[in-house]
Amino acid sequence: MNIVIFGAPGAGKGTQSALLVEKLNMFHISTGDLFRNAIKNKTDLGMKAKAYMDRGDLVPDEITVGMVEEVFDRMGDREFILDGFPRNAAQALALEKMLAEHGKDVGRAVFLKVPRELLMARLTGRRVCRNCGAVYHIDSKPPKHMGVCDECGKKDLYQRDDDKEAVIANRLEAYDKSTAPLVDYYRRAGKYVEVDGVGETGEVFQRLRLTVQG
Ligand code: AP5
Repeated sequence: MNIVIFGAPGAGKGTQSALLVEKLNMFHISTGDLFRNAIKNKTDLGMKAKAYMDRGDLVPDEITVGMVEEVFDRMGDREFILDGFPRNAAQALALEKMLAEHGKDVGRAVFLKVPRELLMARLTGRRVCRNCGAVYHIDSKPPKHMGVCDECGKKDLYQRDDDKEAVIANRLEAYDKSTAPLVDYYRRAGKYVEVDGVGETGEVFQRLRLTVQG
């Protein structure tokens, strides 16, 4: 089943998507990762997206939708998990159109629910491997050796620029204004499911897995 996973910044979308990919061999499309890769590779797309991301604003729809369309064109028949897209009503409509053109649809839109008071600590404590993208947290998932990635062994863990408190506040505002209304959108479409995102990562994954497979 194809799924959309959405929720506030820091809700655990990327962490849970990585587990779905590992355990269920799904194809992961993360628009945040696609933008960060484009910035790392200094592509035109990356240069266009960077200023918006640095401020914690959404990248304009025409840039984002075009980028996702390109991925769909080369995705093949694997079941997918869309993480971080759609992020507003216009993107949700664009997604429906795109999927119809490819003879696909969204089976479930999973909302990962985490209370606001937990999000700031999750985001400010996150560290990411610049080399392979593995995600850590200084308290809940520290690497075995400080600054060194357990997955690829590189000493290249860093804090995302948009994980500073001032930018996080803006990201949360953008989420409230643009993305939270997708709850109603997917409820009306009969595809909405809510998963409690609080608890250990493995516990949350068991809940998510039941939702996706059950
Ligand atoms: P994006 O990268 O998508 O950021 P986000 O939605 O803000 O989500 P995050 O990546 O911050 O959090 P997450 O929910 O994946 O949490 P994670 O699993 O890492 O987007 C970045 C920017 O790109 C946007 O601001 C925007 O500018 C742009 N953009 C992206 N998509 C766009 C779109 N469609 N349209 C327009 N612009 C777009 O977990 C967070 C931390 O918590 C980690 O350290 C993790 O280890 C820890 N953690 C996870 N689960 C648990 C748990 N159960 N218990 C304790 N800690 C946990």
